[in-house]
Amino acid sequence: MTFAVGADAYDRFMGRYSVPLASPFADFAAVGAGQRVLDVGCGPGALTAELVARLGPDAVAAVDPSESFVDAARERNAGVSVQRAAAEQLPFEDEEFDAALAQLVVHFMADPVAGLREMARVTRRDGVVAACVWDHGGGQGPLGLFWEAARELDPEVADESQLAGSRQGHLTELFGAAGLREVEESVLSVSVEHPSFEDWWEPFTLGVGPAGVFAAGLDPDRRAELRELCRQKLPAAPFVPPARAWVARGLI
Ligand SMILES: C[S@@+](CC[C@H](N)C(=O)[O-])C[C@H]1O[C@@H](n2cnc3c(N)ncnc32)[C@H](O)[C@@H]1O
Repeated sequence: MTFAVGADAYDRFMGRYSVPLASPFADFAAVGAGQRVLDVGCGPGALTAELVARLGPDAVAAVDPSESFVDAARERNAGVSVQRAAAEQLPFEDEEFDAALAQLVVHFMADPVAGLREMARVTRRDGVVAACVWDHGGGQGPLGLFWEAARELDPEVADESQLAGSRQGHLTELFGAAGLREVEESVLSVSVEHPSFEDWWEPFTLGVGPAGVFAAGLDPDRRAELRELCRQKLPAAPFVPPARAWVARGLI
């Protein structure tokens, strides 16, 4: 999946959920002082900022294939080395890091096992690889209600429920296939309150990620139909949608 969108659009669409996810994810990966950590698929830098707060900029490196996100992550995280690269081909020597983390990225990798294997290669022996993916499979991620409405509108729609790591146990399978040991899987949740339906809906029209591409690609009448289906499904404002992610960590 290519993210050829601006960082501001990303912030409004997904950053609102990924920023609060960063701290519990870093806790799960046991990120702490003295470590050197890699953020894979950093986007505009939600997790990068959390890592910098814990470790300082010199101890953090980040990569992402999207040019606009790399620019934003650099600008927002002075002193962090941010490079344009994909997980499947990381521009680092073996065992450079104590941990390699991928927040909401595995399901977008062209080859998730190869990406996780590369994360393992650049992490030292006994170091940690960790990843999390929204529960698209169980419909409890923050886009679950949107995809439910989209399936009603178009039963043929390619939602995100079949993507890698988005159902229970699948991250564990992928970690095993990538050669990681002592793999543990759990669940993380974030609570984001939306003051109005419009606050929730408008970022879907910005074309970010598979949901945004689907909404933005509809003609105006169909998009209005989708909007109305979503409005019927959501509780009265203010509301907190489910935002649950599968998370796994394994040792090198
Ligand atoms: C949902 S965003 C997550 C961004 C950030 N980690 C966050 O939590 O906000 C997915 C990111 O994965 C990146 N991505 C897509 N394919 C990738 C790959 N093969 N390797 C690394 N990153 C990839 C995208 O460019 C995008 O920035």
